[in-house]
Amino acid sequence: MECCLLTVCAVSAALLFVLFYWLVPAVQRNAMWALLWHDFITERLHDTLTRSTRPQRMLKAVQKKATKGDPESVISAIDYFCKHSEWAMNVGDEKGSILDSVVTEVNPSTVLELGTYCGYSTVRIARLLSPGTKFITLEFNPANVTIARQIIAYAGLQDKVTVVEGSSGDLIPQMKERFGITTFDFIFLDHWKDRYLPDIKLFEECGLLRKGSVLLADNVICPGAPEYLEYVRNSPRYESRYYPAHLEYTKVEDGLEKSVFLE
Ligand SMILES: C[S@@+](CC[C@H](N)C(=O)[O-])C[C@H]1O[C@@H](n2cnc3c(N)ncnc32)[C@H](O)[C@@H]1O
Repeated sequence: MECCLLTVCAVSAALLFVLFYWLVPAVQRNAMWALLWHDFITERLHDTLTRSTRPQRMLKAVQKKATKGDPESVISAIDYFCKHSEWAMNVGDEKGSILDSVVTEVNPSTVLELGTYCGYSTVRIARLLSPGTKFITLEFNPANVTIARQIIAYAGLQDKVTVVEGSSGDLIPQMKERFGITTFDFIFLDHWKDRYLPDIKLFEECGLLRKGSVLLADNVICPGAPEYLEYVRNSPRYESRYYPAHLEYTKVEDGLEKSVFLE
């Protein structure tokens, strides 16, 4: 009996050691482990245990902690939820402040966001726009669109942004006719990374960029968009600059690429 108890204690101690000295730091600092852990294992576990989805839980956190009509409190409530309850694929607070400074510097009249998810970055951008700015955000997952619309409305920003359901590949060519856009002053790319390159080429083909249009791409290191980076850094049509940071709510290296269209 005593021997059995000792074995249980030894195995538990070994497991704790592995957890704290190897698994936790690995999840914090390693890109593959971080995404596998946060975006796959824990999300499915929470979904099963709570019979809800992560976007639904994020909306609940906003309704519980934020003040209606106050975008800053909505941003803080989501950041708090993601740091203390569950990681989520928002641009996050660290890269979010880089996003804020680029939006403020560009002071755009026309804005496009690719990848709304739950509306975190949409709220960040919309709160900084001058009155009369046209802001469109695209999201192809209908469940995310439903949550994003509620979070944006909770922040009181529903009149500043149009959330459009559909895929970027289908909607970009419709921007001029359907939405009356001539060119975009600012574009935030934060959808699936394999779409960055085809979509920037689509902007060019559709004549949606003007001299000085600014494109800001998230997650260019983690999960990574190497073909997009190679394109914007080597094309004479763009002047590109990297902003180093970390994958949202972790210590994993990531960053934003700002590219100015020169033609
Ligand atoms: C990283 S999340 C966006 C996070 C959001 N920008 C934020 O910071 O709060 C990516 C989102 O893009 C959406 N998405 C991926 N590919 C897309 C596409 N081609 N067209 C429209 N939405 C897309 C996904 O469904 C997902 O919700």
